[in-house]
Amino acid sequence: MQSHCTCTIDNITKLSLVLALAPMMLTSTATANDREAAFKARCGECHGPRDIQFWGRQRPDAAARQVWLDQFLRRHYPPSEAERDLIIGYIQVRIAGATAPR
Ligand code: HEC
Repeated sequence: MQSHCTCTIDNITKLSLVLALAPMMLTSTATANDREAAFKARCGECHGPRDIQFWGRQRPDAAARQVWLDQFLRRHYPPSEAERDLIIGYIQVRIAGATAPR
């Protein structure tokens, strides 16, 4: 006679781990590391810090640059919406950091 229950202790352990981690993943806010990782993963193959500074010089106004990047990245190697926000954030912070008065 076979048991109908396939719940092994191992599966139960895995399930409770997932349930314990899920809220943390949902509420976690993006860190500078997340932004950098997203840029490196999606854009880093072709673009580096010099490109970012060049884009900053091309569009010195941060608000106009935000709108431009938001539109441009919908068709240029488009990342997911969540990643797009991270990536634009990374670019903006890098440019702002480089042009901030010392
Ligand atoms: C496979 C290579 C590749 C990937 C991946 C890539 N790009 Fe590009 N990108 C290019 C090339 C080639 C150009 C055009 C030449 C140039 O402007 O340097 C370009 C141009 C650009 C420009 C300038 C556009 C303009 O009109 O001046 C921006 C901004 C840009 N990419 C951002 C990104 C971002 C952000 C990502 C990541 C989501 C990304 N790219 C991913 C190759 C890539």
